[in-house]
Amino acid sequence: MNNLIIKNIGKIYNPLPDKVGNINILENCSIIITGGKIQEICAGDIEINAIRLEKYKILDAEGKVVLPGFIDSHAHPIFAELRDNEFEMRNAGRSYLEIAQAGGGIKNSVRKLRKLSEEQLYVISKERVNEFIKYGTTTLEAKSGYGLTHNDEIKMLKVIRRINEENDIDLIPTFLGAHDIPEEFKDNREEYINTLINKTIPEVAKEGLAEACDIFIEKNYYTVEEGRRILTAAKINGLEVKIHADQLTCNGGSELAAELGALSSDHLEYISDKAIDDMIKNDVVFNLMPGASFFIGMTDYPPARKIIDKGGIIALSTDFNPGTCYCMSLPLIMTISAVYLKMTAEELVWAATIGGAKALKKENSIGSIEVGKKADLLIMDIENISEIPYSMGMNLVSKVIKNGKIL
Ligand code: NIG
Ligand code: FE
Repeated sequence: MNNLIIKNIGKIYNPLPDKVGNINILENCSIIITGGKIQEICAGDIEINAIRLEKYKILDAEGKVVLPGFIDSHAHPIFAELRDNEFEMRNAGRSYLEIAQAGGGIKNSVRKLRKLSEEQLYVISKERVNEFIKYGTTTLEAKSGYGLTHNDEIKMLKVIRRINEENDIDLIPTFLGAHDIPEEFKDNREEYINTLINKTIPEVAKEGLAEACDIFIEKNYYTVEEGRRILTAAKINGLEVKIHADQLTCNGGSELAAELGALSSDHLEYISDKAIDDMIKNDVVFNLMPGASFFIGMTDYPPARKIIDKGGIIALSTDFNPGTCYCMSLPLIMTISAVYLKMTAEELVWAATIGGAKALKKENSIGSIEVGKKADLLIMDIENISEIPYSMGMNLVSKVIKNGKIL
Protein backbone atom coordinates (compact mmCIF):
# COMPACT_ATOMS: atom_id res chain seq x y z
CA MET A 1 0.00 0.00 0.00
CA ASN A 2 1.17 3.47 -1.00
CA ASN A 3 4.59 2.48 -2.24
CA LEU A 4 5.84 5.05 -4.69
CA ILE A 5 9.07 6.10 -6.32
CA ILE A 6 9.30 9.67 -7.55
CA LYS A 7 12.14 9.80 -10.02
CA ASN A 8 13.71 12.51 -12.12
CA ILE A 9 13.18 15.31 -9.59
CA GLY A 10 14.81 18.57 -10.68
CA LYS A 11 15.04 20.09 -7.20
CA ILE A 12 13.79 19.31 -3.73
CA TYR A 13 13.23 22.35 -1.52
CA ASN A 14 13.35 21.09 2.04
CA PRO A 15 12.71 23.44 4.98
CA LEU A 16 15.02 22.89 7.94
CA PRO A 17 13.25 23.23 11.27
CA ASP A 18 15.87 25.29 13.09
CA LYS A 19 15.31 28.75 11.59
CA VAL A 20 12.62 30.60 9.62
CA GLY A 21 13.60 30.70 5.94
CA ASN A 22 16.26 28.02 6.18
CA ILE A 23 15.70 25.78 3.16
CA ASN A 24 17.98 23.08 1.86
CA ILE A 25 18.06 22.49 -1.91
CA LEU A 26 18.84 19.09 -3.36
CA GLU A 27 19.21 18.79 -7.11
CA ASN A 28 18.62 15.78 -9.38
CA CYS A 29 17.29 13.14 -7.03
CA SER A 30 14.57 10.58 -6.37
CA ILE A 31 12.39 9.75 -3.39
CA ILE A 32 11.43 6.24 -2.32
CA ILE A 33 8.15 6.06 -0.39
CA THR A 34 7.18 2.90 1.41
CA GLY A 35 3.90 2.43 3.25
CA GLY A 36 3.08 6.13 2.83
CA LYS A 37 6.31 7.27 4.50
CA ILE A 38 9.53 8.65 3.07
CA GLN A 39 12.02 5.81 3.13
CA GLU A 40 14.95 7.21 1.22
CA ILE A 41 16.05 10.29 -0.67
CA CYS A 42 18.56 9.23 -3.32
CA ALA A 43 20.97 11.40 -5.25
CA GLY A 44 20.88 11.10 -9.04
CA ASP A 45 18.70 8.87 -11.14
CA ILE A 46 17.36 5.73 -9.55
CA GLU A 47 17.58 2.31 -11.12
CA ILE A 48 14.12 0.84 -11.59
CA ASN A 49 14.80 -2.87 -11.46
CA ALA A 50 12.24 -5.68 -11.67
CA ILE A 51 11.80 -5.92 -7.89
CA ARG A 52 11.11 -2.19 -7.59
CA LEU A 53 8.76 -2.28 -10.55
CA GLU A 54 6.74 -4.97 -8.89
CA LYS A 55 6.60 -3.32 -5.50
CA TYR A 56 6.36 0.39 -6.36
CA LYS A 57 4.33 2.70 -8.50
CA ILE A 58 6.71 4.95 -10.48
CA LEU A 59 6.13 8.67 -10.93
CA ASP A 60 8.35 10.69 -13.28
CA ALA A 61 8.67 14.26 -11.93
CA GLU A 62 10.00 15.38 -15.33
CA GLY A 63 12.67 17.53 -13.77
CA LYS A 64 10.17 19.58 -11.78
CA VAL A 65 10.37 20.88 -8.20
CA VAL A 66 9.26 18.91 -5.13
CA LEU A 67 8.15 20.58 -1.90
CA PRO A 68 6.46 19.33 1.27
CA GLY A 69 2.67 19.61 1.11
CA PHE A 70 1.42 22.94 2.44
CA ILE A 71 0.12 22.99 6.01
CA ASP A 72 -2.69 25.43 6.65
CA SER A 73 -2.64 25.75 10.43
CA HIS A 74 -5.56 28.15 10.95
CA ALA A 75 -8.88 27.75 9.13
CA HIS A 76 -12.65 27.77 9.65
CA PRO A 77 -13.82 25.57 6.74
CA ILE A 78 -17.02 24.23 8.35
CA PHE A 79 -19.90 26.65 7.77
CA ALA A 80 -23.29 26.85 6.14
CA GLU A 81 -23.30 29.78 3.73
CA LEU A 82 -21.13 32.41 2.11
CA ARG A 83 -21.20 36.03 3.36
CA ASP A 84 -20.39 37.80 0.13
CA ASN A 85 -22.97 40.48 1.03
CA GLU A 86 -20.75 41.51 3.97
CA PHE A 87 -17.74 41.73 1.65
CA GLU A 88 -19.72 44.16 -0.49
CA MET A 89 -20.84 46.15 2.57
CA ARG A 90 -17.23 46.54 3.69
CA ASN A 91 -16.15 47.66 0.27
CA ALA A 92 -18.93 50.24 0.42
CA GLY A 93 -17.39 51.63 3.60
CA ARG A 94 -18.63 49.68 6.63
CA SER A 95 -16.19 48.03 9.02
CA TYR A 96 -16.04 44.41 10.16
CA LEU A 97 -17.02 45.39 13.72
CA GLU A 98 -19.93 47.56 12.53
CA ILE A 99 -21.33 44.75 10.42
CA ALA A 100 -20.91 42.32 13.31
CA GLN A 101 -22.75 44.65 15.68
CA ALA A 102 -25.63 44.89 13.23
CA GLY A 103 -26.09 41.09 13.43
CA GLY A 104 -23.68 40.08 10.70
CA GLY A 105 -20.25 38.52 11.17
CA ILE A 106 -19.86 35.37 13.24
CA LYS A 107 -23.46 35.59 14.54
CA ASN A 108 -24.73 35.47 10.96
CA SER A 109 -22.85 32.21 10.33
CA VAL A 110 -24.04 30.82 13.68
CA ARG A 111 -27.71 31.37 12.85
CA LYS A 112 -27.31 29.54 9.56
CA LEU A 113 -25.22 26.64 10.81
CA ARG A 114 -27.60 25.84 13.66
CA LYS A 115 -30.34 25.13 11.10
CA LEU A 116 -28.36 22.36 9.40
CA SER A 117 -28.33 18.72 10.45
CA GLU A 118 -24.99 17.02 10.97
CA GLU A 119 -25.47 15.18 7.67
CA GLN A 120 -26.24 18.38 5.72
CA LEU A 121 -23.24 20.12 7.23
CA TYR A 122 -21.05 17.14 6.40
CA VAL A 123 -22.06 17.13 2.74
CA ILE A 124 -21.34 20.81 2.06
CA SER A 125 -18.19 20.93 4.18
CA LYS A 126 -16.64 17.81 2.70
CA GLU A 127 -16.80 19.22 -0.80
CA ARG A 128 -15.29 22.49 0.33
CA VAL A 129 -12.48 20.88 2.28
CA ASN A 130 -11.47 18.68 -0.65
CA GLU A 131 -10.96 21.82 -2.77
CA PHE A 132 -7.93 22.75 -0.63
CA ILE A 133 -5.93 19.88 -2.10
CA LYS A 134 -5.88 21.53 -5.52
CA TYR A 135 -3.88 24.41 -4.08
CA GLY A 136 -1.38 22.07 -2.46
CA THR A 137 -2.70 21.89 1.11
CA THR A 138 -2.26 18.40 2.54
CA THR A 139 -2.99 19.20 6.21
CA LEU A 140 -5.69 21.64 7.25
CA GLU A 141 -6.64 22.83 10.69
CA ALA A 142 -10.44 22.99 11.11
CA LYS A 143 -12.12 24.95 13.88
CA SER A 144 -15.60 24.74 15.32
CA GLY A 145 -17.02 28.07 16.47
CA TYR A 146 -20.13 28.63 14.35
CA GLY A 147 -22.40 26.56 16.58
CA LEU A 148 -22.02 28.22 19.98
CA THR A 149 -24.31 25.80 21.79
CA HIS A 150 -23.03 22.59 23.33
CA ASN A 151 -24.77 20.44 20.72
CA ASP A 152 -23.97 22.58 17.69
CA GLU A 153 -20.28 22.76 18.60
CA ILE A 154 -20.15 18.98 19.04
CA LYS A 155 -21.98 18.65 15.71
CA MET A 156 -19.26 20.67 13.98
CA LEU A 157 -16.48 18.64 15.56
CA LYS A 158 -18.14 15.37 14.56
CA VAL A 159 -18.36 16.62 10.98
CA ILE A 160 -14.64 17.43 11.08
CA ARG A 161 -13.87 13.97 12.44
CA ARG A 162 -15.92 12.24 9.76
CA ILE A 163 -14.40 14.25 6.90
CA ASN A 164 -10.96 13.44 8.28
CA GLU A 165 -11.71 9.73 8.46
CA GLU A 166 -13.25 9.44 5.01
CA ASN A 167 -11.02 11.68 2.90
CA ASP A 168 -7.36 12.00 1.95
CA ILE A 169 -6.67 15.44 3.42
CA ASP A 170 -5.71 15.48 7.11
CA LEU A 171 -7.92 17.72 9.23
CA ILE A 172 -6.65 18.82 12.64
CA PRO A 173 -9.65 19.72 14.83
CA THR A 174 -9.75 22.75 17.13
CA PHE A 175 -12.56 23.63 19.52
CA LEU A 176 -13.56 27.30 19.21
CA GLY A 177 -16.68 27.48 21.37
CA ALA A 178 -15.40 30.90 22.54
CA HIS A 179 -15.56 32.44 19.06
CA ASP A 180 -18.31 34.87 20.07
CA ILE A 181 -20.87 35.27 22.84
CA PRO A 182 -24.07 33.64 21.53
CA GLU A 183 -26.94 36.06 20.92
CA GLU A 184 -29.13 34.39 23.57
CA PHE A 185 -26.45 34.88 26.25
CA LYS A 186 -25.63 38.50 25.52
CA ASP A 187 -26.95 39.59 28.92
CA ASN A 188 -25.62 36.54 30.70
CA ARG A 189 -22.21 35.73 29.27
CA GLU A 190 -21.11 34.13 32.55
CA GLU A 191 -23.58 31.31 32.06
CA TYR A 192 -22.27 30.52 28.57
CA ILE A 193 -18.65 30.63 29.75
CA ASN A 194 -19.48 28.32 32.65
CA THR A 195 -21.09 25.85 30.24
CA LEU A 196 -17.93 25.90 28.11
CA ILE A 197 -15.75 25.29 31.15
CA ASN A 198 -17.87 22.73 32.97
CA LYS A 199 -19.56 20.84 30.18
CA THR A 200 -18.41 21.34 26.60
CA ILE A 201 -14.62 21.45 27.06
CA PRO A 202 -14.58 18.30 29.24
CA GLU A 203 -16.77 16.44 26.74
CA VAL A 204 -14.74 17.57 23.71
CA ALA A 205 -11.55 16.43 25.44
CA LYS A 206 -12.97 13.15 26.69
CA GLU A 207 -14.35 12.21 23.27
CA GLY A 208 -11.10 13.20 21.54
CA LEU A 209 -13.02 15.61 19.31
CA ALA A 210 -10.32 18.31 19.27
CA GLU A 211 -6.60 18.62 19.82
CA ALA A 212 -6.67 22.24 20.90
CA CYS A 213 -8.96 24.94 22.26
CA ASP A 214 -9.02 28.41 20.69
CA ILE A 215 -10.68 31.71 21.66
CA PHE A 216 -11.29 35.08 19.99
CA ILE A 217 -9.88 37.69 22.34
CA GLU A 218 -11.02 41.04 21.01
CA LYS A 219 -13.05 44.15 21.77
CA ASN A 220 -16.76 43.10 21.78
CA TYR A 221 -15.79 39.40 22.01
CA TYR A 222 -13.79 37.80 24.87
CA THR A 223 -11.58 39.51 27.45
CA VAL A 224 -8.11 38.38 28.49
CA GLU A 225 -9.47 37.37 31.92
CA GLU A 226 -12.19 35.21 30.33
CA GLY A 227 -9.56 33.76 28.02
CA ARG A 228 -7.38 32.83 30.96
CA ARG A 229 -10.27 30.95 32.63
CA ILE A 230 -11.45 29.13 29.49
CA LEU A 231 -8.01 28.13 28.24
CA THR A 232 -6.86 27.06 31.70
CA ALA A 233 -9.87 24.74 31.83
CA ALA A 234 -8.88 23.42 28.39
CA LYS A 235 -5.35 22.73 29.57
CA ILE A 236 -6.58 20.95 32.69
CA ASN A 237 -8.62 18.72 30.37
CA GLY A 238 -5.51 17.93 28.34
CA LEU A 239 -6.10 20.16 25.31
CA GLU A 240 -3.47 22.38 23.70
CA VAL A 241 -4.42 26.05 23.53
CA LYS A 242 -4.16 28.85 20.97
CA ILE A 243 -5.61 32.35 20.64
CA HIS A 244 -7.02 34.71 18.00
CA ALA A 245 -5.22 37.79 19.34
CA ASP A 246 -4.41 41.39 18.49
CA GLN A 247 -6.34 41.21 15.21
CA LEU A 248 -8.40 44.42 15.35
CA THR A 249 -6.97 46.03 18.50
CA CYS A 250 -3.91 45.52 20.68
CA ASN A 251 -5.60 43.52 23.42
CA GLY A 252 -3.19 41.46 25.52
CA GLY A 253 -4.17 38.17 23.89
CA SER A 254 -0.62 37.38 22.79
CA GLU A 255 0.78 38.02 26.28
CA LEU A 256 -1.78 35.50 27.51
CA ALA A 257 -0.68 33.01 24.83
CA ALA A 258 2.87 33.32 26.14
CA GLU A 259 1.74 33.02 29.77
CA LEU A 260 -0.20 29.82 29.02
CA GLY A 261 2.44 28.26 26.75
CA ALA A 262 0.03 28.22 23.81
CA LEU A 263 0.88 26.47 20.54
CA SER A 264 0.38 29.72 18.69
CA SER A 265 -1.02 33.21 18.85
CA ASP A 266 -2.81 34.05 15.62
CA HIS A 267 -3.39 37.21 13.49
CA LEU A 268 -1.21 39.73 15.42
CA GLU A 269 -1.79 42.88 13.37
CA TYR A 270 -1.55 44.97 16.57
CA ILE A 271 0.82 42.86 18.68
CA SER A 272 2.96 44.80 21.18
CA ASP A 273 6.76 44.58 21.36
CA LYS A 274 6.47 43.09 24.82
CA ALA A 275 4.16 40.35 23.55
CA ILE A 276 6.62 39.53 20.76
CA ASP A 277 9.38 39.08 23.33
CA ASP A 278 7.12 37.06 25.67
CA MET A 279 6.06 34.72 22.86
CA ILE A 280 9.64 34.13 21.74
CA LYS A 281 10.70 33.36 25.31
CA ASN A 282 7.91 30.79 25.60
CA ASP A 283 8.29 29.21 22.12
CA VAL A 284 4.83 30.26 20.97
CA VAL A 285 4.42 30.25 17.17
CA PHE A 286 3.44 33.53 15.49
CA ASN A 287 0.65 32.39 13.18
CA LEU A 288 0.13 35.07 10.54
CA MET A 289 -2.81 35.30 8.16
CA PRO A 290 -2.56 38.55 6.22
CA GLY A 291 -5.25 37.32 3.82
CA ALA A 292 -7.73 38.42 6.50
CA SER A 293 -6.27 41.94 6.76
CA PHE A 294 -6.33 42.18 2.98
CA PHE A 295 -9.86 40.83 2.59
CA ILE A 296 -11.42 43.11 5.20
CA GLY A 297 -9.54 46.11 3.85
CA MET A 298 -7.25 46.83 6.78
CA THR A 299 -4.20 49.01 6.29
CA ASP A 300 -2.26 47.37 9.13
CA TYR A 301 -0.50 44.03 8.77
CA PRO A 302 1.38 41.88 11.28
CA PRO A 303 5.00 42.97 11.84
CA ALA A 304 6.59 39.87 10.31
CA ARG A 305 10.04 41.40 9.72
CA LYS A 306 10.34 42.50 13.32
CA ILE A 307 9.25 39.04 14.51
CA ILE A 308 11.70 37.22 12.23
CA ASP A 309 14.56 39.56 13.12
CA LYS A 310 13.97 38.91 16.81
CA GLY A 311 14.01 35.14 16.20
CA GLY A 312 10.28 34.29 16.34
CA ILE A 313 8.86 31.18 14.67
CA ILE A 314 6.38 32.05 11.94
CA ALA A 315 3.54 30.02 10.44
CA LEU A 316 1.49 31.29 7.53
CA SER A 317 -2.14 30.28 7.13
CA THR A 318 -5.24 31.25 5.20
CA ASP A 319 -7.73 31.78 8.06
CA PHE A 320 -10.20 30.50 5.44
CA ASN A 321 -13.70 31.47 6.64
CA PRO A 322 -16.86 33.03 5.15
CA GLY A 323 -16.29 36.43 6.75
CA THR A 324 -12.73 37.70 6.88
CA CYS A 325 -10.94 35.54 4.31
CA TYR A 326 -12.63 33.42 1.69
CA CYS A 327 -9.39 32.10 0.25
CA MET A 328 -8.13 28.51 0.19
CA SER A 329 -4.88 29.17 -1.57
CA LEU A 330 -1.73 29.38 0.55
CA PRO A 331 0.23 30.44 -2.56
CA LEU A 332 -2.02 33.50 -2.87
CA ILE A 333 -1.50 34.22 0.85
CA MET A 334 2.23 34.04 0.09
CA THR A 335 1.83 36.73 -2.56
CA ILE A 336 0.00 38.99 -0.09
CA SER A 337 2.67 38.27 2.54
CA ALA A 338 5.53 39.01 0.17
CA VAL A 339 4.05 42.41 -0.65
CA TYR A 340 2.69 43.48 2.75
CA LEU A 341 4.84 41.56 5.24
CA LYS A 342 8.04 41.82 3.17
CA MET A 343 8.82 38.15 3.61
CA THR A 344 11.17 36.34 1.22
CA ALA A 345 10.11 33.30 -0.83
CA GLU A 346 12.22 31.08 1.43
CA GLU A 347 10.54 32.46 4.55
CA LEU A 348 7.10 32.08 2.99
CA VAL A 349 7.56 28.47 1.95
CA TRP A 350 9.12 27.68 5.32
CA ALA A 351 6.19 29.28 7.19
CA ALA A 352 3.59 27.42 5.09
CA THR A 353 5.25 24.03 5.62
CA ILE A 354 7.40 23.36 8.67
CA GLY A 355 6.12 26.56 10.36
CA GLY A 356 2.54 25.28 10.04
CA ALA A 357 3.63 21.89 11.34
CA LYS A 358 5.13 23.56 14.41
CA ALA A 359 1.93 25.56 14.99
CA LEU A 360 0.06 22.24 15.10
CA LYS A 361 2.78 20.43 17.08
CA LYS A 362 3.22 17.99 14.20
CA GLU A 363 6.78 18.82 13.19
CA ASN A 364 7.89 15.27 13.90
CA SER A 365 5.59 13.78 11.28
CA ILE A 366 4.99 16.43 8.59
CA GLY A 367 6.27 19.75 7.23
CA SER A 368 9.55 18.69 5.66
CA ILE A 369 11.00 15.96 3.45
CA GLU A 370 12.80 13.66 5.83
CA VAL A 371 13.15 9.93 6.16
CA GLY A 372 10.35 8.59 8.37
CA LYS A 373 7.97 11.51 7.80
CA LYS A 374 4.66 11.18 5.99
CA ALA A 375 5.04 11.37 2.23
CA ASP A 376 2.92 14.51 1.80
CA LEU A 377 4.55 16.12 -1.21
CA LEU A 378 3.88 18.54 -4.04
CA ILE A 379 5.29 18.51 -7.52
CA MET A 380 5.27 22.09 -8.73
CA ASP A 381 5.63 23.42 -12.21
CA ILE A 382 8.35 25.95 -11.38
CA GLU A 383 12.10 26.28 -11.58
CA ASN A 384 12.58 28.31 -8.43
CA ILE A 385 10.39 28.90 -5.34
CA SER A 386 10.41 32.65 -5.92
CA GLU A 387 7.86 31.90 -8.66
CA ILE A 388 5.28 30.85 -6.05
CA PRO A 389 4.58 34.26 -4.45
CA TYR A 390 5.28 35.96 -7.77
CA SER A 391 2.58 34.05 -9.66
CA MET A 392 -0.37 35.91 -8.17
CA GLY A 393 -3.50 33.78 -7.97
CA MET A 394 -2.07 31.15 -10.31
CA ASN A 395 -1.96 27.51 -9.45
CA LEU A 396 1.43 25.96 -10.12
CA VAL A 397 0.74 22.71 -8.27
CA SER A 398 1.13 19.94 -10.78
CA LYS A 399 0.65 16.88 -8.54
CA VAL A 400 -0.27 16.32 -4.90
CA ILE A 401 0.99 13.23 -3.12
CA LYS A 402 -0.68 12.44 0.19
CA ASN A 403 0.61 9.61 2.35
CA GLY A 404 2.42 8.34 -0.72
CA LYS A 405 -0.75 8.29 -2.83
CA ILE A 406 -1.04 10.42 -5.96
CA LEU A 407 -4.28 12.39 -5.64
O1 NIG B 1 -10.19 34.50 12.23
N1 NIG B 1 -11.43 36.67 14.12
C1 NIG B 1 -12.25 35.82 14.40
N2 NIG B 1 -12.67 34.83 13.64
C2 NIG B 1 -12.49 34.76 12.24
C3 NIG B 1 -13.57 35.47 11.52
C4 NIG B 1 -14.81 34.73 11.62
C5 NIG B 1 -15.95 35.27 10.80
O2 NIG B 1 -16.06 36.48 10.52
O3 NIG B 1 -16.79 34.44 10.48
C6 NIG B 1 -11.10 35.21 11.85
O4 NIG B 1 -10.88 36.21 11.18
FE1 FE C 1 -9.53 32.70 12.45
